[in-house]
Amino acid sequence: MDGVVAPRGQGAFDVARIRQDFPILSEKVRGKDLVFLDSGASAQKPRAVIQAMTRMMEKAYANVHRGAYHLSESATEAYEGARRAVAGFLNAADEREIVFTGSSTAAINLVAHSYGRGVLKAGQAVLISEMEHHANLVPWQMLKAAHGTELRVARVTDAGELDLEDVAAKLADGKVGLMAVTHMSNVLGTVTPAARLAEMAHAHGAKLLLDGSQAAVHRRVDVQALGCDFYVFTGHKLYGPTGIGVLWARMELLEAMPPFLGGGDMISEVTLEGFLPAPVPAKFEAGTPPIIEAVGLHAAIDYVQGIGMEAIEAHERHLVDRAMTRLSAVEGLTLIGHAQDRGGVFAFALDNAHAHDLATLLDRVGIAVRSGRHCAEPLHARFNVESTCRASFGLYTTEGEVDYLAEALGKAREFFR
Ligand code: ALA
Repeated sequence: MDGVVAPRGQGAFDVARIRQDFPILSEKVRGKDLVFLDSGASAQKPRAVIQAMTRMMEKAYANVHRGAYHLSESATEAYEGARRAVAGFLNAADEREIVFTGSSTAAINLVAHSYGRGVLKAGQAVLISEMEHHANLVPWQMLKAAHGTELRVARVTDAGELDLEDVAAKLADGKVGLMAVTHMSNVLGTVTPAARLAEMAHAHGAKLLLDGSQAAVHRRVDVQALGCDFYVFTGHKLYGPTGIGVLWARMELLEAMPPFLGGGDMISEVTLEGFLPAPVPAKFEAGTPPIIEAVGLHAAIDYVQGIGMEAIEAHERHLVDRAMTRLSAVEGLTLIGHAQDRGGVFAFALDNAHAHDLATLLDRVGIAVRSGRHCAEPLHARFNVESTCRASFGLYTTEGEVDYLAEALGKAREFFR
């Protein structure tokens, strides 16, 4: 596969070596080491990504699909090479099934507009869950407001797992045309049973969209093995740049979907009276695409594949076990969500301390966490919490950082008393 580098062959996952690849991790925060525990919001960037993007701008940049001159052709080759790399990353059957967007949010909005308005039939419903990020909630609310499309919401259990009995009940009448759920919650860390959800959806005539914004960073994703119909993820959480997201969908779905944005590059013919859309995927890539960002995403994919997704997953499982042990032992700390299958995302509240106050206190000792509702207000309401702090891990997170967080939380408790 194009652009895949050989594994480093170091055997064990070497987190100290990996940290050296991320220039920002050597920076100090007010004289202290940076303990970056907000990778779920946006991950730090390895030198390979920074250099690939710089190289592109310094030596190889031009617009794509538009020029007959050499630089434009080589930029087009770099952009399309990124598409092939993403197809390999997701094990897509065909690289044309990869559509570049500006973000996961843009990818879900594309599906909501195009599939929701153009393919779903009158009377068909969309099924989401209580644990969705606003990006996989609001576009469906907008579809409901514009087209009257019924929106159903599957419950989340007290443990923070998708309530599969409720999913089955909400699929039972066969009216759901599309189920759109997260593959891994950005608050609870819960990994949803994607292959089972695909079977359940298909058995009732529904398609399945997975929001992989968090999951694609932590686990190998094989869209064919999962059996889903749409998959979205974003570059900036996968150690790549902001400004690029990915929509994967089965070819027959993309072909049936009308274009969303109109403009340059998405047409095969245009007159003053009308247009004929270009074939997939150009049909969905109106305007100058994220060219430099695609090159950066390609480098990020090469980077994580060079380490190995299985090795990354194993490292993070170890950190999750450590965090469960250490955080559960902090008095006054309430963890939200205790799913069996989970990744390195932990939302918590400490006694009655406000999440922003706690995050500010942690920042004073160099720890960066997110505080608030993490773009998941209904989920916070479901668990009766106003707001939480959230620690989220990346491949560069160490056991020592997890311990440091637990110790800092213990001291914060004393402070708030
Ligand atoms: N979606 C990102 C998060 O969960 C921004 O923090």
